[in-house]
Amino acid sequence: MTAVWSDCTIEQDWQAYSEEEHAIWRLLFERQQRLLVGRACREYLEGLSGLGVAADGIPDFRRLSEILDRATGWRIVAVPGLVPDEVFFAHLARRRFPSTCFIRRRDQLDYLQEPDVFHDVCGHVPLLMNPVFADYMQAYGEGGLKALGLGHLQRLARLYWYTVEFGLIATEEGLRIYGSGILSSAGESVFCLNDPRPRRLRFDLRRVMQTRYRIDDFQQLYFVIDDFQELFDATCPDFAPIYREIATLPDLEPTTRVDQDREFVPWSRKKIGPRISAAQV
Ligand code: PHE
Ligand code: FE
Repeated sequence: MTAVWSDCTIEQDWQAYSEEEHAIWRLLFERQQRLLVGRACREYLEGLSGLGVAADGIPDFRRLSEILDRATGWRIVAVPGLVPDEVFFAHLARRRFPSTCFIRRRDQLDYLQEPDVFHDVCGHVPLLMNPVFADYMQAYGEGGLKALGLGHLQRLARLYWYTVEFGLIATEEGLRIYGSGILSSAGESVFCLNDPRPRRLRFDLRRVMQTRYRIDDFQQLYFVIDDFQELFDATCPDFAPIYREIATLPDLEPTTRVDQDREFVPWSRKKIGPRISAAQV
């Protein structure tokens, strides 16, 4: 039985991974590598290569933490699964990213409800190499502890969902992905950029906090930022008065249209990711 410490962390026990588990990692990694060139934002791809999270197999968190620590002062801590909110926020506030250790089974390559080590390490960790994003995640952890105390966690959780997990970023080369929930999903990596059905709105803090999200299918709505500094600046103000304001407004569905919505309009269709055939997905 693995010991669980009071901060909910465990040992990763890297030696214990089987060859099959490393093989599943390689499969997922190689597939995403092919898809993410021209789709993931530059900061993500740079972080990934900076970490040397290679196609070799499930990485050893100790090695990753050393590199990450030198770049931005973040470390990875191993956890058994989803941890209580206050524990999760407290880790982020101390620049520690809680990552699961287990990897999905071969029959779950495309879909998994809970985070696994591929989502956590390949999806989240590379962006922690970026100084601005690294600060945003720490601020989010501090904001989480505060929101818990104020009773507005649901509004703050929506911000995490629509940025950290499912955010898009407008670059000169075209629309790109920075949300980890997309980056670790082959299907959604293509869908979020190439499919005409989901809406893509300019990031708006209040709109995000008002909007529900679905966890059981591809998103019907994405929010687009211009850069991480915009995100950091927009989320810097004290949220206490904003929470009080939002509390008086109705919740919105992802499909709801509001007059103030600012649609993201790409310069040309060509700029939205490269075309890809179904066979490659
Ligand atoms: N500014 C927020 C607050 O006062 C904290 C926060 C920062 C939350 C960044 C999320 C992201 O609560
Ligand atoms: Fe996640």
